[in-house]
Amino acid sequence: MSIKVEGFLKDVGGASRVTALRKKSIETASAVPHPEDPIRAVADALHPDHMKFRVVSVREASPSSRVFRLVSTDGHIPVFQAGQYVNFRLKLAGSELTRPYTISSAPCDARGENGYIEVTIRRNRPYLVPDWFFDQVNVGTVLQGNMPFGTFYYEPLRDSKNLVALAGGSGITPFYSMAREIAYGKMKGVRLTILYGSVHHSDIVLGEELAQVERDCPDVKVVHVLSGDESWTGEKGFITKDLIARYMGQDPTLMFCGPIAMFKLVAQAAKELGLSCRRFRHDVMSQPADPAQIPGYPADNKEKRWKIKVLRGIHEDEIVARGDEPVAVALERAAIPVDTHCRGGECGYCRSQLLSGRIFVSPYGDGRRLMDKEMGWFHACSAYPVSDLTIRIPIL
Ligand SMILES: Cc1cc2nc3c(=O)[nH]c(=O)nc-3n(C[C@H](O)[C@H](O)[C@H](O)COP(=O)(O)OP(=O)(O)OC[C@H]3O[C@@H](n4cnc5c(N)ncnc54)[C@H](O)[C@@H]3O)c2cc1C
Ligand code: FES
Repeated sequence: MSIKVEGFLKDVGGASRVTALRKKSIETASAVPHPEDPIRAVADALHPDHMKFRVVSVREASPSSRVFRLVSTDGHIPVFQAGQYVNFRLKLAGSELTRPYTISSAPCDARGENGYIEVTIRRNRPYLVPDWFFDQVNVGTVLQGNMPFGTFYYEPLRDSKNLVALAGGSGITPFYSMAREIAYGKMKGVRLTILYGSVHHSDIVLGEELAQVERDCPDVKVVHVLSGDESWTGEKGFITKDLIARYMGQDPTLMFCGPIAMFKLVAQAAKELGLSCRRFRHDVMSQPADPAQIPGYPADNKEKRWKIKVLRGIHEDEIVARGDEPVAVALERAAIPVDTHCRGGECGYCRSQLLSGRIFVSPYGDGRRLMDKEMGWFHACSAYPVSDLTIRIPIL
């Protein structure tokens, strides 16, 4: 009891000493603003608001994907973790767009005088932003963006050192970054087994690069699983529970990055294997081209068109939105600037207010706080209109 009382008095005494010190500092402080704030300078270096990147090389990573190597024109590249992404700000099709791309190179590649990052972009069908990258971005092009973002990286306090990556399509990019970082001798003690699902051999992104890391580093193993290639002599079919069980070893952390259809399979497999939620992690889920893949999406909404009244400060616009596209895409199409980062409902950069009407919110990565849900806030990147709407969005 006496210890508690003494501790309490010490705390109160400590607080009043701090208050007195603060008061003295405020009284003696100069009225002229300090020209340099060292804490702000560190924060800016870690998380610059805007960066410019110059493309220094472009190479093929498969018949349908390209690797763009970028250097910072501002001198340095912020520290990041293998698995994080860069958010590009692009002006195209009459709109200002933001798009996330995982940094496929390793954090080690970004250090030193010749530091760089790479993004690997896939174009397997006509697509707005990948088309632009393939057709318009060349050596010398300057891109705007900022980094790093995302929480899909190895965290030693939470994750097992036995990482099992489950990848599909361009979802290989965070794992290639991790594989390289391990090969550099970073991420000490971590072993990475990549189960990489593709249809044909020609769909494999970064295939040669992965083979090279595997040769260089005994802690990285890559298993290609092909679902539509009869001539393939390795693992065939899809990434199933049995296949994962065969390769996962003791006490793994499963990390998934790929399309929603694949997510449904591997999430079920993880459940059947008895893995705890903590041991099954997934990257941000982009909205699929066909929202009917999202559980609960009202199928008859796809063909519908809805009016959205958009309030932005003193501006008021009325736009027509498609039922099969998230509200953020409708805003982009109408050339109304909307800030997005993850585009999967998690980060909250696109947080907007629903004043009237009904929306369907994708259950994958619904990162809204409980109070936001109750007060009618929503994330425009992952919400679909299912009636006419009135919304308020932040001014950029
Ligand atoms: C965290 C994260 C990391 C990612 N990393 C990678 C990666 O490493 N490699 C990779 O290849 N992909 C990656 N992606 C996917 C990538 O961000 C893009 O979504 C993808 O390249 C498709 O781009 P898109 O803009 O064409 O289509 P979407 O992003 O799906 O955009 C949706 C739609 O917007 C339409 N649209 C928007 N504005 C307009 C306009 N003004 N006029 C006409 N149409 C418009 C497009 O036609 C398109 O149908 C990642 C996604 C996330 C969330
Ligand atoms: S952009 Fe991240 S929640 Fe919408």
